[in-house]
Amino acid sequence: MTATLLTGVAELVTNDPSVGDGSPLGLLRDAALVVEGGRVAWVGQASRAPDADRRRDLGGRAVIPGFVDSHAHLVFAGDRAAEFAARMAGTRYDGGGIATTVAATRAAGDAELRASLGERIAEMRAQGTTTVEVKSGYGLTVADEVRALRLAGEVTPETTFLGAHVVPAGTDRDDYVRLVTGEMLTACAPHARWIDVFCEPASPHAFDADETREILTAGRDAGLALRVHGNQLSAGPGVRLAVELGAASVDHCTHLTDADVSALAGGDTVATLLPGVEFSTRSPYPDARRLLDAGVTVALATDCNPGSCYTSSMPFVVALAVREMRMTPAEALWAATAGGAIALRRDDVGVVAPGRRADLALLDAPSHLHIPYRPGVPLVRALDGPG
Ligand code: NIG
Ligand code: FE
Repeated sequence: MTATLLTGVAELVTNDPSVGDGSPLGLLRDAALVVEGGRVAWVGQASRAPDADRRRDLGGRAVIPGFVDSHAHLVFAGDRAAEFAARMAGTRYDGGGIATTVAATRAAGDAELRASLGERIAEMRAQGTTTVEVKSGYGLTVADEVRALRLAGEVTPETTFLGAHVVPAGTDRDDYVRLVTGEMLTACAPHARWIDVFCEPASPHAFDADETREILTAGRDAGLALRVHGNQLSAGPGVRLAVELGAASVDHCTHLTDADVSALAGGDTVATLLPGVEFSTRSPYPDARRLLDAGVTVALATDCNPGSCYTSSMPFVVALAVREMRMTPAEALWAATAGGAIALRRDDVGVVAPGRRADLALLDAPSHLHIPYRPGVPLVRALDGPG
């Protein structure tokens, strides 16, 4: 194996508080790293760097852990730009537009879906994302959900069965819950790591508390780990169900009661905030400070999807989190990297330390502060090649 020494690192964000400045970001200035076989082999001050087979000078840039985008819906066809425009003119988001994407996705061939999925993954990588979760949920038949998960599995191990995205138009609710917990789950479970439910009593299209509990329990019995779309449109039961059932993450968390915050603080379910959704649906942002001050683990993700939020950009999400949710730049970057890794229960990514994957992102800037400081500027990209 060839060891590569990376030098010229003005600032290294490790997310390892045992090194550098001792903060949660574990910041090291004038740093160097050794990468070998796709793993980090050494991290420290440039002045103490060991010898290596090769050297690569990064020219005074900052290096951060690659973003971990723990929530994305990337297998779809069709376009809902007109729905976005209508929303900007005052129409409320309620998930009804999902049916449009379901129809377009069912009608698309495998090659078309694979190609657009690949483009979205490339778009994410070009903005520094090195780990991404991908959900099904725009098929909603046994064959179409299996197809989405097979395609997702070609690009990531973080595949999520979201047959319970909405009840398809013209289908009886009870019949659909039986299908999702029966034949569809049996067919999809071998292709998925996770199961997710859009739990939202305020939407006529999504699932209530009893349905969500039934679906998540069946998923767990089929060997899947749990995630939940909860409390997006109302202070519904999603957060408390997620904590009670031991879900790795509950995502959105836009409308929370004190009991929801206490439940999250007392459990090990991550609260994943998706502020791109509030931006793109013109809704009030989640109260990130309330969660952080209560000691809840917070992650940030894009929720990249054609309806509620069509951005693939984690730097944009970090900027929103800082500007609109009053997270500090350090809290936001941690949530978009280490937080996402915890939301996916991954201990090999999100932190730059010996033994971890060398999934790194490079900034055309000297410090991580430039991510929210220079919003909309393409500063971040995944670091390609050996190290
Ligand atoms: O996470 N809320 C449910 N699902 C997606 C939106 C899907 C869509 O509108 O196509 C979300 O926001
Ligand atoms: Fe989502």
